[in-house]
Amino acid sequence: MKRFSCSSEYYNSIAKVYDSMYEDEYWQVARKQIEMAILKYKPQLDGAKILDVGAGTGYWSFWALQRGAQVTLVEPAENMLKIAKEKIAQVGLLEKARFINSTAEQMDEYIDEQFDVIFALGDVLSYVSDLDKVLSVLSKISSPNALMFATVDNYYSYLKDVIIHGTWEDYRTLERKKRLPIGSEHGVFEARCFTAEEIKLLVKQHSFQAIEIEALAAFDKVEKALRYGKYLVNELEHLFIILRNSKGNCST
Ligand SMILES: C[S@@+](CC[C@H](N)C(=O)[O-])C[C@H]1O[C@@H](n2cnc3c(N)ncnc32)[C@H](O)[C@@H]1O
Repeated sequence: MKRFSCSSEYYNSIAKVYDSMYEDEYWQVARKQIEMAILKYKPQLDGAKILDVGAGTGYWSFWALQRGAQVTLVEPAENMLKIAKEKIAQVGLLEKARFINSTAEQMDEYIDEQFDVIFALGDVLSYVSDLDKVLSVLSKISSPNALMFATVDNYYSYLKDVIIHGTWEDYRTLERKKRLPIGSEHGVFEARCFTAEEIKLLVKQHSFQAIEIEALAAFDKVEKALRYGKYLVNELEHLFIILRNSKGNCST
């Protein structure tokens, strides 16, 4: 199995097949759940300034652009970003999009504006190498009360994998680093996992408040996933988190 030193190298190598890997029922429910949550907090995206960090092949950028938003895509894997640009060009929305080929850690070198909405979807916060730096940059480039929608890998799912399939050495590595190798038949790379409690504390240090944390795609029907997802945050593979930037608010 090929080992990649970072996730963007892995994604760069699988860019051509990436979209086909997310067509199954799990991802259909997951995407619907995320879409409904975004529209619950931000019913009008028309004119909204959105940052899509770890934009990949542009699924969420494309979705937001079609609803009238202006989107900045940040993506270190050149081949992923190229596909995103081609898709957006095909629907004539290039002038509403900006493409930055960078990691989230370095994106502030290119960005000098603030955003109303941030997408960090597809577990990007599990993949960055310097989480503290990324959260600090995200806070800096968020407007007051900006919303962030993110998914991350769940610690309890990694723990179950290690108990069932791993060794005591794997268990100790997980406890020490909160990281495990993940991937597909195309290769593996290391990713970080989180508990819901840990997320709340981490983001608070960067002026974000966790307003909702739920398990992603808990059931085959999105209505059930939405209703019961919050009860399964200690069980399932991905956590879906909704954050609000509270900088400047008296209660923080
Ligand atoms: C699972 S994909 C998600 C793509 C897209 N957001 C989506 O939901 O379809 C994760 C993306 O994060 C990107 N990524 C990895 N490390 C990153 C970093 N340090 N900064 C920004 N993006 C990163 C990868 O290159 C990859 O395109």
